[in-house]
Amino acid sequence: MQQIAIFASGAGSNAAKIIDYFISAKKQITVSLIVCNNPNAGVLKIAASYNIATLLIDKEPFFKGDAYLPQLQEMNIDFIVLAGFLWKIPEKIITAYTNRMINIHPALLPKYGGKGMYGDKVHTAVLNNKETQSGITIHFVNKHYDEGEIIFQATCPVDKNDTPETLAKKIHALEHKHYSAIIDTILSQ
Ligand code: GAR
Repeated sequence: MQQIAIFASGAGSNAAKIIDYFISAKKQITVSLIVCNNPNAGVLKIAASYNIATLLIDKEPFFKGDAYLPQLQEMNIDFIVLAGFLWKIPEKIITAYTNRMINIHPALLPKYGGKGMYGDKVHTAVLNNKETQSGITIHFVNKHYDEGEIIFQATCPVDKNDTPETLAKKIHALEHKHYSAIIDTILSQ
């Protein structure tokens, strides 16, 4: 059995899709932990509804302590999926999970990445620059924000009358369509 931990701090729509996918896939792959830094995040309710363990993390131990690595190892976490997790990943975790941690970014990296570029901020920047297309990037995580090796990209058109909200909807649809299958491909190799 390969065990996935999903790190998420928001609504958790991607987390829900991934959990569902691996329940239906009936493979030896399961989401066994949700790691979250926000006690009010929707993803915690999703975890509870599926009876999945959660780890609510604090800044101090995450950035200056053991980065919760002992807990991840105790739970035999093989693979980490970032799905709307907004804190930088400490080097201790990056080293322990080299090539075993991926992120999804709501734009076509290397454009519109880096610190502070998340959620609607990304979509607003794309619209302000009058881009005609945007999309998603799934990439391995290294110590530079949004710069790890790109695994997969998919695009969608940006229309003249798109708003950050309508663009976010298109991007979410792409994320929900592709993220689980990409995780499956990597873990099934
Ligand atoms: C997703 O669109 C994801 O790409 C983005 O946060 C959203 C989380 O949505 N991540 C980033 O912006 C990371 N820089 P969700 O909580 O509904 O899955």
